[in-house]
Amino acid sequence: MEPLVLPPNVFSALALSLLLLFLTPAAAWRPWPRLAESNASIDPLVGDSKKFEGSSEFVHLKYHMGPVLTTNISVHIIWYGSWQRNQKKIIREFINSISAGASKSPSVSGWWKTVQLYTDQTGNNISSTVQLGEEKNDRFYSHGKSLTRLSIQSVIKSAVTAKSRPLPVNARNGLYLLLTADDVYVENFCGQVCGFHYFTFPSIVGYTLPYAWVGNSEKLCPGICAYPFAVPSYMPGVKAMKSPNADVGVDGMISVIAHEVAELASNPLVNAWYAGADPIAPVEIADLCEGIYGTGGGGSYTGQLMDGHDGATYNMNGIRRRYLVQWVWNHVVNYCTGPNALDQ
Ligand SMILES: *[C@@H]1O[C@H](CO)[C@@H](O)[C@H](O)[C@H]1NC(C)=O
Ligand SMILES: *[C@@H]1O[C@H](CO)[C@@H](O)[C@H](O)[C@H]1NC(C)=O
Ligand SMILES: *[C@@H]1O[C@H](CO)[C@@H](O)[C@H](O)[C@H]1NC(C)=O
Repeated sequence: MEPLVLPPNVFSALALSLLLLFLTPAAAWRPWPRLAESNASIDPLVGDSKKFEGSSEFVHLKYHMGPVLTTNISVHIIWYGSWQRNQKKIIREFINSISAGASKSPSVSGWWKTVQLYTDQTGNNISSTVQLGEEKNDRFYSHGKSLTRLSIQSVIKSAVTAKSRPLPVNARNGLYLLLTADDVYVENFCGQVCGFHYFTFPSIVGYTLPYAWVGNSEKLCPGICAYPFAVPSYMPGVKAMKSPNADVGVDGMISVIAHEVAELASNPLVNAWYAGADPIAPVEIADLCEGIYGTGGGGSYTGQLMDGHDGATYNMNGIRRRYLVQWVWNHVVNYCTGPNALDQ
C-alpha cells in the first residue's frame, strides 16, 4: 500500500498522522504536493533526515499471523488503455528479472532477497520465484478513463471472466497487476498515491485475489510519481535524473510496481506483515523505505546511485536492462536494505 491512503474515519486518520509524524523524518518520502504547501522542511540536497536509511527505533513491524506468498508467484498483468510495445517490454523484463539469478550485481534478484526474509506462521519464507503470468489487454478502456477503487475491481472481474482468454483465477500464488496508461486517472492518483494494493471482494469479482494498481504518471504528475526522473515545479534548482530506459513514465512506474509486489508478497490479504495498529492504513515493508534507493537515502535525497555511461541513473541490473528501485524494510537488521548498499 502507499503510505498516505486516507482512511475513512477521523480516528484512524489521527492515528495515521501520529504514526507518520514518527516515520516521515526518516522514510516514506515522495514530493507530494501537500508537502510543498506546508513547506515541510524539504532540503532538496540532503533531505530532512540525518538518520541512516530509515533506521528507526519507532518502527515496530509486526507479523499478524496471516499468509504470505510462499509458493512460486505468478504476476498476471492487465494492460489498461493504450500501451506501446516497448513500454510493455520494460515492465515484463523487470518482473522476469526478480528471480533471474544471472543478472550482474547489484541485481533485481538481489533486491528480492530482502523480501524473501519474511516468513509465515510455519516458518516458510516468501518464494524466491516470481514469474510473469498471463496478460490481458483492456485496450478500449472498458470502464472509462477515470477509475475508482471499486471500478478497478470491476476491471479485474472483466479480465478473469472474459469469454476469450480470461486471466486464470489463481488465489494461492497469483498476483493481479492492473497497469493504467498515461491518460487514465485513478482515485487519489497524484495527490495521495502512485499505486496501491488490496484484495478483490468476492461480491464483486467472485474471488478473493490479491491485486495492485500502478498508473503511468507521465501526463498527470511525473514530478511526483516518476520522481527523480521528473521534478515538481516547487523544487526549483533540483535537476531531474535521466531515466535508464528512456521512458520517464514507465521507469517511474518500475519502483512503484516493485513496491506493490513486495507488499503483496508479504501482506497479500492485509493480515500478515505491517507496522501500526490500524489494518485500514497499514504501513508495510515498502512504505517504510519509500524514496530510499541507496546508502544514505532519506528525505528527498535518493541515496548513492549509479550513473551509466549514457548518463542515466539506476541502482540495479535486470536481465537486459537497468532499473531504479526503492529499497525495502529488512526486519532482521531493522533498517531498509538493497543490493547496492555500499557497506555490505
Ligand atoms: C514556509 O516557509 C516560509 C519561509 O521559511 C514561512 O514564512 C512560511 O510561513 C512557511 N509556510 C508554511 C505553511 O509553513
Ligand atoms: C528465511 O527467513 C529467515 C528469517 O528472516 C532468514 O533468516 C532466512 O535467511 C530466510 N531464508 C531465505 C532463503 O531467504
Ligand atoms: C517453481 O519454480 C522453479 C524455478 O524457480 C521450478 O523449477 C519449479 O518447477 C516451479 N514449481 C512449480 C510448482 O511451478
